[in-house]
Amino acid sequence: MTEKPDTKALIEVLSHANHVVVSTGAGISAESGIPTFRGKEGLWKKYRAEELATPTAFAQNPNLVWEFYEWRRGIIAEKEPNPGHKVLARWENIFPAYSLITQNIDGFHQKAGSKNVLELHGNIWKLRCTEEGTITENHETPLKKSPPLCPDCGALLRPHVVWFGESLSPTVLQKAFQLSSECNVIFVVGTSAFVQPAASLPLAAAEAGAKIVEINPDPTPLTPYADFSFREKAGQILPLIDEELKKTLRTKKE
Ligand code: OAD
Repeated sequence: MTEKPDTKALIEVLSHANHVVVSTGAGISAESGIPTFRGKEGLWKKYRAEELATPTAFAQNPNLVWEFYEWRRGIIAEKEPNPGHKVLARWENIFPAYSLITQNIDGFHQKAGSKNVLELHGNIWKLRCTEEGTITENHETPLKKSPPLCPDCGALLRPHVVWFGESLSPTVLQKAFQLSSECNVIFVVGTSAFVQPAASLPLAAAEAGAKIVEINPDPTPLTPYADFSFREKAGQILPLIDEELKKTLRTKKE
């Protein structure tokens, strides 16, 4: 039998934390059955990002890019958030201040009940007009017309996601760094910590005095900087931390 991970020291820190930030990546949705990008079965092992997730790819072959995104929308539509997403949603009501930042575009945090989610890389359920920049929500799988066209001006619609070679929204990015530099604890869950600028958030937090908690079955470039490292699956360790935290908070109240 594997030993239960020791969460005691972390719970002590969490029980005094005023502001907790959680930054998630593809690994939080892995247990829901959504493929990650860089693991053995990762999307970028099977598909070439430059052919499917860049502005040039879309300009050259919008049909192929939309085929890829429709395939991903189809997978996501069939799956559900897992216990990890659900704990992160509950934590909105536990800490005095709490912020959830994600690189994911699947919308699972919101589906699990999170109300405040800062999406760094956009959302696969939103479409953006390539001419007017208007953003609309769309959950059709498959789309009635693919590639979809703007109902107002007839231009191509694209997924409202950040592609390679594109910049993140400056407003979203500024907010992410601001929150990270204000928190006492930052959880970094299920990201390979390779993709910038998301990978810099925990370092900015640590520079401002926060503790870094990493949750990932594998070590990452962030691991040497982590104050707490859990080599666990998010859907298993987060409910465990949540359980222990609830017990401690209850005892403190009594
Ligand atoms: P990656 O695929 O690079 O990394 C996923 C991480 O999740 C790996 O470090 C795994 O070890 C870890 N992992 C796998 N299963 C897990 C589990 N059950 N619990 C916890 N961790 C687990 O995904 P990201 O780091 O999110 O960007 O990738 C960052 C960005 O690269 C994505 O947002 C996407 C991609 O290209 C864009 O599309 C712009």
